[in-house]
Amino acid sequence: MDWPLRLPAGATVLLLLAMASHESMATVIDVGVNWGSQLSHPLLPSSVVHMLKENGISKVKLFDADPWPIGALIDSGIEVMLGIPNNMLETMNSYGNAKDWVKENVTSYGDKLNIKYVAVGNEPFLKAYNGSFMKTTFPALKNIQKALNEAGIGGKVKATVPLNADVYVSPDNKPSSGVFRPDIEDLMTGMVKFLHDQGAPFVVNIYPFLSLYQSDDFPFEFAFIDGGKTIQDKGGISYSNVFDANFDTLVTAMKKAGVPNIKVVVGEVGWPTDGDKNANIKLARRYYDGLLKKLAKEEGTPLRPGKMDVYMFGLFDEDMKSILPGNFERHWGIFTYDGKPKFPMDLTGHGNDKLLAAVPAVQYLPKQWCVFDDEAKDKSKLPGNIEYACASGDCTAIGYGCSCNSLDEKSNISYAFNMYFQMQDQDVRACDFDGLAKITEKNASAHGCLFPIQVISAANHIATPVVISFAALLAVLMVLV
Ligand SMILES: *[C@@H]1O[C@H](CO)[C@@H](O)[C@H](O)[C@H]1NC(C)=O
Ligand SMILES: *[C@@H]1O[C@H](CO)[C@@H](O)[C@H](O)[C@H]1NC(C)=O
Ligand SMILES: *[C@@H]1O[C@H](CO)[C@@H](O)[C@H](O)[C@H]1NC(C)=O
Ligand SMILES: *[C@@H]1O[C@H](CO)[C@@H](O)[C@H](O)[C@H]1NC(C)=O
Repeated sequence: MDWPLRLPAGATVLLLLAMASHESMATVIDVGVNWGSQLSHPLLPSSVVHMLKENGISKVKLFDADPWPIGALIDSGIEVMLGIPNNMLETMNSYGNAKDWVKENVTSYGDKLNIKYVAVGNEPFLKAYNGSFMKTTFPALKNIQKALNEAGIGGKVKATVPLNADVYVSPDNKPSSGVFRPDIEDLMTGMVKFLHDQGAPFVVNIYPFLSLYQSDDFPFEFAFIDGGKTIQDKGGISYSNVFDANFDTLVTAMKKAGVPNIKVVVGEVGWPTDGDKNANIKLARRYYDGLLKKLAKEEGTPLRPGKMDVYMFGLFDEDMKSILPGNFERHWGIFTYDGKPKFPMDLTGHGNDKLLAAVPAVQYLPKQWCVFDDEAKDKSKLPGNIEYACASGDCTAIGYGCSCNSLDEKSNISYAFNMYFQMQDQDVRACDFDGLAKITEKNASAHGCLFPIQVISAANHIATPVVISFAALLAVLMVLV
C-alpha cells in the first residue's frame, strides 16, 4: 500500500483522526460552562479538564478559587472566571485582604492560568438573601479591581459581580420598560457605571425555567427559543422567547442608568432534568438545542444584535446543593454526577444528534445497593429512618412529576436508603436503619428510576489515571513526521 506520508499505518490513522477532530473543534461555538463544586463525590479535576478539551469547551466559570480544580486548568489554555463566595465579601471590604486574595489566587499563577474575570460574590442581591450583602458587595468589587490594577493586570483581568435577573424589573413585562429594582436602583446605577469605567462586563444569570416554575400563567412556549410564541414591544420590535426579552430588559435598564454600551455576559443559563414536572431530559434537550442554534447564528437580541457571551449552567448534577429554591436545584448538570452526558448536545449549534464526550476513567464503588428489608419485624421506626436518609442523601427524584415518582411504597423506601448508603461510600453501618434495611447485589433500579452506584470520590482517592492529551498526541505525531 502507498501511504501519502511515511508513517506507520496506525499513526496515519491517528493523524487523520486528529485532523478531523481538530477541524470539528474549530466550529464549536464559543460557549462556556459553570463548574460547581457542591458534590459529595467530585470527579478528578484533570479528567474533567480532559473532557472539556475533548468537547472543545474553552471557558469555565468557577464559584471560588479552589487550587484543586485550578491545578488541572493550569497550562490548559481554558479561559477561567474565578469566584469569590458571598461569605468572603465582607472580608474583601479591607483593601489589604483584597490585595492578598489577588496575590494568592491570581498573580501567583502568572501566565500559566488564563484568568479573564473575577466574579465578586454570586447573586448577592437575590431577594432571598434579605439584603445581607447589600453594603459589602460594591466596596469588595472596587477593592478587587483596584488590586488587579495595581498588580498591573487590570487591563486583562476584570472584576465583576454575577447578578440574578431579579435585580431588574419591567412594570408591564415589556423589555422597553426595564429598570433596576427600586430598592437597589442607586446601588446598581453606581455599580454599572464603575464596571463600565473599568471596561468590565455586566454578568447576568437568566433562567427561563424559573419563569415557568414561578408562575403557572407563564406562556409555556415562550420559555423555549423555538417556541413560536411572540410578544410585541414598542417600535415594532417583537420577541420570540423570554431569554431575549429578559436580556433586553436589562439592556434598557442600563441605558437608563447611563451606560448604553456596557458589555453583557450571561453568566448562567440552562435547564434542569429532574426534581419538577417541567424539569426533564426532553425539555432540557429542547432548550439547549434552541439556545445553541441561536448562539451559532450570532444573531443576538433585538437591542444587542451579534455574538453573545454565554456560560451554561452547569457541568454536573450537584447533590449537596441547597434545595430551598426547589428540588430541581440538584439536577442542572449537562452531565450526570458520574460525568456522562445526559442527552445529545451539539456544540457546533447544528443540532446534530450526538453525545458529548464523557469524563474519562471514572471509577465506581462495588455493584451493591441498600434496600428496604420487607422481612423486618418492627416497622414503626420507618418514618424517622426515611427522614434521616433523605436529610443527607438526595431524595429529590421521587417527588411529583420526577423520574422516580412511579415507584411503589417499598421501592420508595429503598430509594431513600440507597441514596444515603451510596453517599456514605457504601459503609455497611449506613445500611442498617434500625434493622429495616439490607444490602443486595441485585440492581434495585425499577420503573425507569435509576438507583445509582456512587463513584469513588476523587477527593479521598487521588489516583492519577493515564490520560493522553490531544496536545501530547499531536506532539508525538510531529516527531514521527
Ligand atoms: C484564595 O481563594 C481560596 C479559595 O476560594 C480562599 O480559601 C483563600 O482564602 C483565598 N486567599 C486569600 C489570601 O484570600
Ligand atoms: C429579613 O429581614 C427582616 C427585616 O429586617 C427580618 O425580620 C427577617 O428576620 C430577615 N430574614 C432573614 C432570613 O434574614
Ligand atoms: C413515594 O414518595 C413520594 C415522595 O415522598 C410520594 O410523593 C409518593 O406518593 C410515594 N409513593 C408511594 C407509593 O408511597
Ligand atoms: C441498573 O439498572 C439500570 C436500569 O436498567 C441501568 O441503567 C444501570 O446501569 C444498572 N446499574 C448497574 C450498576 O449495572
